[in-house]
Amino acid sequence: MRILEANDVNIAKASEFIKSGKLVAFPTETVYGLGANAFDAKAVAGIFEAKGRPSFNPLISHIAEPEMISEYALVDERVMFLAKKFWPGPLTFVLNRKDDNPALDLVCAGLKTMTFRCPNHLVALELIKKSGLPIAAPSANRSQTLSPTTAEAVYESLGDRVDMILDGGACQVGVESTIVDLTHPQAYILRAGGITKADLENALGEQIYVSDGNPDKPTSPGQLLKHYAPSKSFRINAVMPEDDEFFIAFGQPYSRCDLNLSPTGDLREAASNLFSFMRIADKNTKFSKIAMAPIPEEGVGVAINDRIRRASR
Ligand code: TXA
Ligand code: MG
Repeated sequence: MRILEANDVNIAKASEFIKSGKLVAFPTETVYGLGANAFDAKAVAGIFEAKGRPSFNPLISHIAEPEMISEYALVDERVMFLAKKFWPGPLTFVLNRKDDNPALDLVCAGLKTMTFRCPNHLVALELIKKSGLPIAAPSANRSQTLSPTTAEAVYESLGDRVDMILDGGACQVGVESTIVDLTHPQAYILRAGGITKADLENALGEQIYVSDGNPDKPTSPGQLLKHYAPSKSFRINAVMPEDDEFFIAFGQPYSRCDLNLSPTGDLREAASNLFSFMRIADKNTKFSKIAMAPIPEEGVGVAINDRIRRASR
């Protein structure tokens, strides 16, 4: 049985699952999350695969102690003030990431920002503490379907794609957390949720801006969700590299290859290496351009192709 009552024994078991790279769905006060070790890029790739997402977007890392965020992100007084006031609770912060930590590249979708939330749910907090890791988790549903607020709804949506579902009953809030971008001097709400604009304005004593929800049509600078792209010219579906191209292969051996996303042709492994490899290729001083081998348009390969298509424009 994949649905397990969220008692001490099963939470301990779930934390072992998280530490060993498996996927665990768990309750939060907003909706159920589909969790994996944020540092395990292959497990994180498994999240995208299980959700059937056609693209990578950054995931929220769930933490149990507000102090934990300063290990990974740049934290100022405003951030800590809001954390003290609203955490644990349905408020998510987008922060600037600390210097290169390639293991976190997939969680952050290659961006220079990282996103955190401390959920107000005892089961979630226990699971994070026992795992001793930030847990990356989007809502625990297949792409384009409703966010689940019960363990049964998670099972209906994801079925056997999730290794364990911790049943902590129905979620209290039922809508996803408020997301606030704190990477600029002005704060922007990227997604509305239980904590309102007025709540944030009253707490901070400053004006908070709100995005219109369309990241492609920003009306203010904070709401543009930028995509990672290398600065060098980037050619995709390349069967043979040119002399001046850093070549990122996939699967079968190529006559010349500088890195291989997955020599065995494992798409999950390829996804876990994607952003770090693009970065290495971009920094390499020997080649002025980048080329990448074709990636099969199946499973998590769909999301890989979406991302490299955007990056190659
Ligand atoms: O209540 C919640 O927030 C739930 C529970 C499980 O914590 N989680 C959740 O995650 O709703 P998800 O992945 O379904 O939605 C997170 C949203 C995505 O639309 C993502 O694009 C956005 O947050 N996001 C995450 N990091 C971001 C970043 N660095 N910049 C802009 N948007 C970001
Ligand atoms: Mg969602």
